[in-house]
Amino acid sequence: MPGLFSRTPKEADATYDASGIIPVHVGIIMDGNGRWARARGMPRAAGHRAGTKNIRRVLIEAVEIGIKALTVYAFSTENWARPKDEVNHLMRLISQGIQDELDELDARGVRILHSGRLAGVSPSLQEEIRGAVARTKDNDVITLNVAFNYGGRAEIVDAIKAIMRAGVSPEDVTEELVSQHLYASDLPDPDLIIRTGGEFRLSNFLIWQAAYAEFYSTPTYWPDFDEAELRKAVAVFQHRDRRFGKIKDAER
Ligand code: IPE
Ligand code: IPE
Ligand code: MG
Repeated sequence: MPGLFSRTPKEADATYDASGIIPVHVGIIMDGNGRWARARGMPRAAGHRAGTKNIRRVLIEAVEIGIKALTVYAFSTENWARPKDEVNHLMRLISQGIQDELDELDARGVRILHSGRLAGVSPSLQEEIRGAVARTKDNDVITLNVAFNYGGRAEIVDAIKAIMRAGVSPEDVTEELVSQHLYASDLPDPDLIIRTGGEFRLSNFLIWQAAYAEFYSTPTYWPDFDEAELRKAVAVFQHRDRRFGKIKDAER
């Protein structure tokens, strides 16, 4: 009997094919840091530290695989509702992460983007985020889009505001126009969305862009999600049949 996480035998056995189709844009809901730490008798903060460190390992493997853009969900508009200590710790980790990793990210040709609202974030962190984006804007090995203070609904509201401010008339509002007003409008829609930590929900992540993304959930907690896990997710993606509402040519 295939288990919950290997829905079909075909997916359970999927092996990664380096010459197969590679997702251009992958989104990752990096969930399970708290449970990872608790399972080790450590405070949640230790899980967030381990989780932040793990981005580097997965990013390097993504480059190896040939993925061109990675959007990582780091902090949601709903995460402000967590205890103040945890929120402050997450803010410090982002800031620390930029300070510690920016030189190497830049040297590796990583273009950093930020998706989310800067309003509400401390002025010094705003400055660090703007600086990282500006410094790496011409890099082209891979795009690391950090969804931070990000909500999919907030993003759509912000797009509507921008469109209305531009005085666009209702007849001219199209799906393309909405897409063009999203935070990272030059990225293609994600092909694959990975969620670690075992849940089967988007939690307000890329809700517009995910319309036809393939969804992959693994019980592995984010700090343990390694190179082999990323390859496995891509392998499963390679075995999916993306129809985009059409039917297969063979069935016409
Ligand atoms: C994901 O891990 C990181 C953030 C949401 C910032 P969690 O902190 O949600 O970990 P769990 O889900 O409680 O284990
Ligand atoms: C989603 O995880 C947000 C991030 C990974 C940053 P959550 O832990 O906040 O999601 P829920 O609350 O389980 O839906
Ligand atoms: Mg969680």
